[in-house]
Amino acid sequence: MVARIRRPNPSVEGVGVKGIVIAGGMGTRVHPLTLSTSKCLLPVYNKPMVYYPVSALMMAGIRDLLVISRPRDRAAYEFLFRDGTDWGMRITYGEQPDPRGGIAEAFLIGEAFVGDESCALVLGDNVFMGDGLPAHLQNVASPIKGATIFVTRVKQPEHYGIVTFDSSDQPIRIEEKPSNPSSNWAVTGLYFYDNQVLDIARQLQPSARGELEISDINQTFLSWEILCVERLGEDVTWFDAGTIESLYQATSHVRQVERHSGQPVGFPELVALANGWIDHHQVSRLGERYKHSHYGRFLKRFSERADTQ
Ligand code: DAU
Repeated sequence: MVARIRRPNPSVEGVGVKGIVIAGGMGTRVHPLTLSTSKCLLPVYNKPMVYYPVSALMMAGIRDLLVISRPRDRAAYEFLFRDGTDWGMRITYGEQPDPRGGIAEAFLIGEAFVGDESCALVLGDNVFMGDGLPAHLQNVASPIKGATIFVTRVKQPEHYGIVTFDSSDQPIRIEEKPSNPSSNWAVTGLYFYDNQVLDIARQLQPSARGELEISDINQTFLSWEILCVERLGEDVTWFDAGTIESLYQATSHVRQVERHSGQPVGFPELVALANGWIDHHQVSRLGERYKHSHYGRFLKRFSERADTQ
């Protein structure tokens, strides 16, 4: 089957939203894989896990990224992404000294980076894919008012942030890993906030497990009635690749999609091409850099197709 390349979409130019990727944490659930490296650098099929969440932010039109990691892993991320210009982006780096400080600490670390703009946060171990994704994301990012989160049904709700809906389908509560979940709608790790998130983060108190919880931020937006909860459709697939089982499932799913449909999943270079941030010559140059790998050959093939369209 012929793979599709999206043409540049003017609506994804300059949405003025800052993007934060949080890729720290201890990775204890996949020890010993993470003793010497960051979990989000582990492979999901043919590319580092973090390429998928970065691609999701790019699909939303976000060009200015802050990648937060443990101090120990910062150099590895800098080596991977450099300053982002290869992809027509700007990528800078931040550090979270305490790897269990909590996801919401991203807004304290990224305060100066966000400045007075809106921002999107993505978890470095969340894999999003599917035809419906760009449309979902581009609608949200321009402009952001309040907050938007994405939910999907899961089998083990006690492992996630969970949204409870009332009888008229309105969200009424968000709880982090409830022991008796009252719904199976899990909050995925991609969040869009207006600038009020910085104030909320400054006032957060650590939870009982000692973390600044992203669910507490979402609950605040909900209590202010400015939280939009979007249910992901069947045209979007999501994995939290943070356990060995889900890491394997994500790998197997991406492999299946790329091999059987020829559809690329989680290639930042191709999102940049579709967004018009780089041209096919640049994709070809980047493919040449990895010419001995499956990934590089995929890029070369796509750059040639883009050239003929
Ligand atoms: O995947 C969705 C879920 O992610 C949400 O439903 C939950 O509300 C949210 O809390 C989160 O739960 P997890 O238990 O999956 O979070 P985890 O500790 O695995 O962290 C997710 C990513 O964030 C991971 O790549 C490591 C990074 N992280 C996490 C913490 C707690 C940090 O960089 N710093 C941290 O302090």
